Amino acid sequence: MVETIRWERDCVEILDQRVLPQVVTYIKCDHYKLVVECIKNLSIRGAPAIGIAASMAVALAASSIEADTAAELTSKLAPVFKDLLDSRPTAVNIRWAVERATKLLTDNQSLPVKDVKELLIKDSISVLKEDIEINKAIGRWGAEFIKTGSRILTHCNAGSLATGGYGTATAPMRTAKEQGKQISVIADETRPVLQGARLTAWELMQDNIDVTLITDNTAGAIMKRGEIDLCIVGTDRTVRNGDVANKIGTYSVAVLAKENNIPFYVAAPLSSIDFTLATGDSIPIEERAADEVTNVFGKCKIAPEGVKVRNIAFDVTPARYITAIITEKGAFRPEDLHHLADAGFDCEKIRIKKP
Ligand code: MRU
Repeated sequence: MVETIRWERDCVEILDQRVLPQVVTYIKCDHYKLVVECIKNLSIRGAPAIGIAASMAVALAASSIEADTAAELTSKLAPVFKDLLDSRPTAVNIRWAVERATKLLTDNQSLPVKDVKELLIKDSISVLKEDIEINKAIGRWGAEFIKTGSRILTHCNAGSLATGGYGTATAPMRTAKEQGKQISVIADETRPVLQGARLTAWELMQDNIDVTLITDNTAGAIMKRGEIDLCIVGTDRTVRNGDVANKIGTYSVAVLAKENNIPFYVAAPLSSIDFTLATGDSIPIEERAADEVTNVFGKCKIAPEGVKVRNIAFDVTPARYITAIITEKGAFRPEDLHHLADAGFDCEKIRIKKP
């Protein structure tokens, strides 16, 4: 499986997803600002992957900061945290990574600066490794909802490339395949950046998972024909009441799924759940540059010069459209999600026992 991001000899190396699937190349970041740039320009994208990138960016920044004490290092990292938090607003994983680094700094204020810097590097590498394990756990819970013969629709890319590896929405698919179930996947192309066409189709083909690419506006027709058994998508931020922010177009897929009596699942690592927000109305939604819509990949122009454009990058699917939210702790009904935080993550009582 191709690596999305790695820590390599005091540099962060990021797979440039802008040029996939034609070119497989890594961007060497020897300064945290280069990582921030990669997050903004979508060289690395997908909520868990940008959380990992943020964690490594903090470690990279810390390693070049001159400070006599851990307290001085902590205060000099404040602008780094701000740059990361400002880079992409919707995925909560960047805030999650900044909070994890802040806790590590707070817990180790008495250590020599050199040791704190090393701890930050080690922890960012752990964030990457833990992410893969979390995804595998999502895969084990999620595969329960997949039978042999299941035809699964997904939107955007919530796969290996959007994570440290294995993916969130793709994890149940990969696990089901490993369990010997015959499955097929329908990937929405996902305008305007085409994460479905360029990334999901590519990575599933590499894993020999049967995948068929459709245009976004085919989803309804293919559901109505009875050719989809379930949908699984990822999330950038899921909130207490079970509302889910994900790539623009997810809401339309969820409404179409409900209309056609098709279960709609969201794969959500706990790092993508924001228990501080009551409903999806408060999720900050990123709007991106017009040229992503007027041009295909900054090259071919497909719209008249000067046309007005809205390029809303994410939408919020209300909890009532969601059958279950699959986390590393199990699958839950969206309305039960808040109990996870309230009951200190004691999930046994609210976990969906039998799909
Ligand atoms: O704009 P992107 O490509 O970062 O959007 C990615 C998505 O919407 C994913 O579905 C989401 O981040 C979950 S990734 C496991």
